[in-house]
Amino acid sequence: MLIAPSLLSCDFSCFGDEIRRVDEAGADLVHLDIMDGHFVPNLTFGAPVVKKLRRFTDLPFDVHLMISQPLAYIDDFADAGADILSFHTEADSDIDATIRKIEDRGMRPALAIKPGTPAHTVLPYLERLYMVLVMTVEPGFGGQRFMADMMPKVELLRQEIDRRGLSTLIEVDGGIDRHTIRQAYISGVDVCVAGTAVFGAPSAMDAIGELRALCES
Ligand code: DX5
Ligand code: ZN
Repeated sequence: MLIAPSLLSCDFSCFGDEIRRVDEAGADLVHLDIMDGHFVPNLTFGAPVVKKLRRFTDLPFDVHLMISQPLAYIDDFADAGADILSFHTEADSDIDATIRKIEDRGMRPALAIKPGTPAHTVLPYLERLYMVLVMTVEPGFGGQRFMADMMPKVELLRQEIDRRGLSTLIEVDGGIDRHTIRQAYISGVDVCVAGTAVFGAPSAMDAIGELRALCES
């Protein structure tokens, strides 16, 4: 299981140090949540901030766009140093064109679905995706409760990815902690985002180690 700490729950007054901290704590990816106050009822930060953060780690930047017009910002995030760029099927941009542009700019495309969106929405794109992101909370805020009823979507995606012999990863985001990560693992998840569980813990290293160990036991 890969662990991607979500910086949404970090101390923004020392953003760079927080990234260094999760890097040293053994994170596999750095998950950065971009919100526009329109696609979701919250605001975070944009590409200029991501660009400034790039020098604090060599870990891949897993950038989760919760914005209405992802296509319009792909160049900005490519220039900022994003590695994986996730956008939502529910956003307004054309899905084909957005995947193509992400690839053209040398990043890995990922498609995200909100809890109310069925898994079959992403099936036509699976071959072209580096990752599928299944939201296990309504996007917009950290610290919400894990929606276990999203696991049938993960299972369906796992089956379909394996049946087609693909290497597309499945990521879940929202409410992942020591009580929920094993359900995700058993359902076939490859990457778990964890905000509160990592940044709310006394030791990020222990928290990440525990999450990973729970999938191995
Ligand atoms: C929510 C964000 C998540 C969030 C997860 O919209 O996409 O990445 O930070 O936070 P936790 O792990 O606290 O649920
Ligand atoms: Zn996220």
